[in-house]
Amino acid sequence: MKIKIPATSANLGPGFDCLGLSLNLHNEVQIKKARISSVKIKGEGEDNIYLKRNNPFLRLFDELYLGLTGEKSSFRFEFNNQIPLSRGLGSSSAVVVGAVVAAYAMAGKDFDKQGILNSALPYEKHPDNIAPATLGGFVCSVVESSQVFSIKSEIDNDLRAVMVIPNAHISTKKSRANLPKSVHFKDAVFNLAHSSFLTACFLQKRYDLLRLASIDTLHQNTRMKNLPALFKVQKLALEKGALMSVLSGSGSSFLNIIYKNEAKTLAQKLQNEFKDFKIKIMEFDNKGFEIC
Ligand code: HSE
Repeated sequence: MKIKIPATSANLGPGFDCLGLSLNLHNEVQIKKARISSVKIKGEGEDNIYLKRNNPFLRLFDELYLGLTGEKSSFRFEFNNQIPLSRGLGSSSAVVVGAVVAAYAMAGKDFDKQGILNSALPYEKHPDNIAPATLGGFVCSVVESSQVFSIKSEIDNDLRAVMVIPNAHISTKKSRANLPKSVHFKDAVFNLAHSSFLTACFLQKRYDLLRLASIDTLHQNTRMKNLPALFKVQKLALEKGALMSVLSGSGSSFLNIIYKNEAKTLAQKLQNEFKDFKIKIMEFDNKGFEIC
């Protein structure tokens, strides 16, 4: 069995912990019953010995498989990973969603996307990456009584993400710990308004208003100060036609959304200016995880 899980970009500016979208860049894992357990990794993480010895996907899969079947079994896992690790592109969520799907499928249990999303929630308590990794597209989510409620909207094929990917690895846990413990009422109101407005823009395809809608007052500035070049990335991207330019999740990557026919020019301008950063043009994914 092969599972394909997309990369994701969370927050989208003001939608802290609730908004996210899915990108056409995937991790794949092929799983077969075997006499002894083994792991092969190609792509991102292939040189990381820790990922072979103490793989988070396997740890979660084993726990869930045991819970579902009451027994341990041996499998061969072959990973083909395209999602960069710890750069705000949802690599951890891809692990969580992939392991949950794999455990249900290999245990021979029936499942649907909603069930997978609810089962993934205990392992990543904010749904802004796991929801688009499951459903694809633009997704707005709330959590109530340990259940995720999501509304999804497909993203038009004439849009592209021009992703700026610095070398800096960011731990989401540490990055969250550095955020202020309380915020001003007016900043909270500002983000509520902008996050709601941003959702309406995606649902009604009012991409012309994304720049206004994507302003944040809660987390981006604090986080971008750790990598000040990101302020210049944002300025240049907005000057050169990006519809919106925001920190991807907790960083370090930056998500720029632009019309397809302008994506190459923007990518080149960014690459000329920021030679140390990787710049990638990506399509959006409207499907979420798939079993192939
Ligand atoms: N909403 C999360 C955060 C996304 O900003 O910390 C990163 O996983």
